[in-house]
Amino acid sequence: MSDATAPDPIDRLIRKAAASPRVIGLGGGLPSEKQFPRKELAAAFVAALKRQGSPALQYGWPEGQEPLRVWIARRLRERGATVAADDVIITNGAQQAIALAAGLALRKGAPIAVEDASYPAALDLFRSRRLRLTSLSEGRAAYLMPAVNNPSGMALSSAARATLLARRVPLIEDDAYADLNFAGRESRPFLADAPDRTYHVGTMSKTLCPGLRVGWLVVPHSRRQRAVKTKQDVDLQANSLAQAVVDHYLSNHDFDARLRVLRRFYQRRAARLSEAVHKTLPNWTFDFPAGGFCLWIQTDAAVDEKRFLERAVAEGVSFDLGSTFLRHHDRREPNRLRLSFSYEDPTKFTEGVRRLARAWRWAVKSARAR
Ligand SMILES: Cc1ncc(COP(=O)(O)O)c(C=O)c1O
Repeated sequence: MSDATAPDPIDRLIRKAAASPRVIGLGGGLPSEKQFPRKELAAAFVAALKRQGSPALQYGWPEGQEPLRVWIARRLRERGATVAADDVIITNGAQQAIALAAGLALRKGAPIAVEDASYPAALDLFRSRRLRLTSLSEGRAAYLMPAVNNPSGMALSSAARATLLARRVPLIEDDAYADLNFAGRESRPFLADAPDRTYHVGTMSKTLCPGLRVGWLVVPHSRRQRAVKTKQDVDLQANSLAQAVVDHYLSNHDFDARLRVLRRFYQRRAARLSEAVHKTLPNWTFDFPAGGFCLWIQTDAAVDEKRFLERAVAEGVSFDLGSTFLRHHDRREPNRLRLSFSYEDPTKFTEGVRRLARAWRWAVKSARAR
């Protein structure tokens, strides 16, 4: 196996940790399995398959099925954007929407502004497209999560929002967690204020389930044809069956009621994990998130984060390396890390954080001994 294809040792470690029932999972940021509406989705599946003409099993148009696009457009209008169903393109998850948007908005080598802490799979995508990551005050385009940032769980400040609007650059707005802000506030998307240069990205992954891979993209009118053609070039269309299942589910259930349940559920979990961290690792600091799945932790020492993760997994707990979220990472600065409260059973949080604290004490000691 060549170096280029050799598995990354951290990736191997993360996979091993995820597969081990003795490892308490505070990494990964997966949604809770408890909240997947399995029975309802099973019924939606059967109903979609039984429909006359079998549209769920047939080819569809590259922009996706109309009923779903109608639903997405209506929800965006409720948040202040002027969007018609024809403006929406259904994608294979938000990740594909980000990739399409980056291809449309930026040339190779162009600078793209990102928040100080940002979503690693988008950063990886931009780096592999040879885009240059810059701070929000620079760049000829920006990628942001203005409603709820991953990893911080915070909304973009109104000052940063105003500055970005005034700079009139193309904006890739990733709204993946927007519906999971704990206060249930319907935030106004950039799409509402700058429709001529916003590439708006959404997904059902966080609020329904990621396995169906249903996301969407709204692009400026002038780029729509190009966006649909690019999508078609890559995969013809998003999965017909998944779209039909989601459409049937949404037509037969109160999605807003579901969101209210999810917000309370994740907020309670956030409070439980916060309490455990404050108690056991009082020198670590973080802001209580406004939404999302995670705590974005600032530690009080600089250690080798990979060795810390290895030790943590050996102790029986996982977390996400802070460096993967950072545009710019300085090893001499105290480490950052992301802890997820979304996936693991909260009765394991106290023990998980105790294990983390043991690994942290070891990592700090070995950093001092060097
Ligand atoms: C901020 C953000 N954007 C996009 C995605 C990708 O979502 P999808 O499953 O819809 O591709 C994720 C998944 O973790 C995410 O955290």
